[in-house]
Amino acid sequence: MRVKQAAYGLATMAPVLGPLLVRLRRGVRGGEGGGSNSARYCYSVWLRHLVHADKSGLNTRPATVVEMGPGDSLGMGLAALLSGSERYYALDLVEFANPTKNLQIFDELVGLFRRREPIPDNDEFPKVRPPVETYDFPAQILDEARLSTALAEDRLKLIRESILNMGGRDSMISYKTPWSDAGVMEAGSVDVVCSQAVMEHVDDLSTAYGAMKLWLKPGGYVSHEIDFKSHGLAIGWNGHWAYRDATWKLICGRRPYLLNREPLSTHVGLLEKRGFEIRSLVRAKAEPAVPRERPSPRFRGVSEDDLTTPSAFIQASTG
Ligand SMILES: C[S@@+](CC[C@H](N)C(=O)[O-])C[C@H]1O[C@@H](n2cnc3c(N)ncnc32)[C@H](O)[C@@H]1O
Repeated sequence: MRVKQAAYGLATMAPVLGPLLVRLRRGVRGGEGGGSNSARYCYSVWLRHLVHADKSGLNTRPATVVEMGPGDSLGMGLAALLSGSERYYALDLVEFANPTKNLQIFDELVGLFRRREPIPDNDEFPKVRPPVETYDFPAQILDEARLSTALAEDRLKLIRESILNMGGRDSMISYKTPWSDAGVMEAGSVDVVCSQAVMEHVDDLSTAYGAMKLWLKPGGYVSHEIDFKSHGLAIGWNGHWAYRDATWKLICGRRPYLLNREPLSTHVGLLEKRGFEIRSLVRAKAEPAVPRERPSPRFRGVSEDDLTTPSAFIQASTG
């Protein structure tokens, strides 16, 4: 596994083959157990974040939503718009989504909201997190009055036009790729910054969390599901922690992103350092596949919590 992955990383550095390989397989795509090319996945993920926001006493009527790393479609943001949000900004490193796919996902999402479909659960998406207590449609949050306004025909037309005219003056949607610095968003303009299976890929976490703090309004919050697992790059969920830094660098090669290999405590620590207050922390638990003695020197000191946390959902507010 180590040799195979290092060989691939090395190949991405070759003069002609490298850029071609990177174009063909740009990093690691698709949230675990689904991926944003499925409307039901996007619907499930958005509603799970919303239900947890409600439970944590956070704003469940966010006017302006930023999503980091939407991947194959902007479905999570389209679900936010169909729940009544007014503006959606998608910030990715790589442009994966396109209008045709987004329109298809949008039409399917409209049907799901109109039918008040239950949240697709663990039978359908066994690996998607965070879990919620009940998978019934969250009618206490998305009540009839809210949804009849959000799903009004003229509003659906506006969202549809926004998909076709992303970034236009009257568009409700902006898709910014690649985003590189905090200046892409106006300070103090955002209600929630969310992501699914993305923050484990972000290279400069400190800058990213700093940018989120800057963008959020007072009382705004972040909502991130983070997958610390090895994404098939090693054997066992924390097998990638066994690679020494030099090997890891080879594996990364010139791919635009891979994994930052940071455990839960790094994310929590950086959020707190930026002045966020942790409002919800839902950890998955598993025995480490690679025990404490085996990880490369960089990971030998990880805490018991980190060593038994393959993924976590974090919501944190600006205080
Ligand atoms: C595993 S995919 C997840 C996609 C989607 N959220 C889903 O649930 O299917 C990871 C995504 O993170 C994006 N990504 C990687 N580094 C990023 C960064 N620094 N800022 C924003 N997005 C990033 C990738 O381009 C990709 O779209």
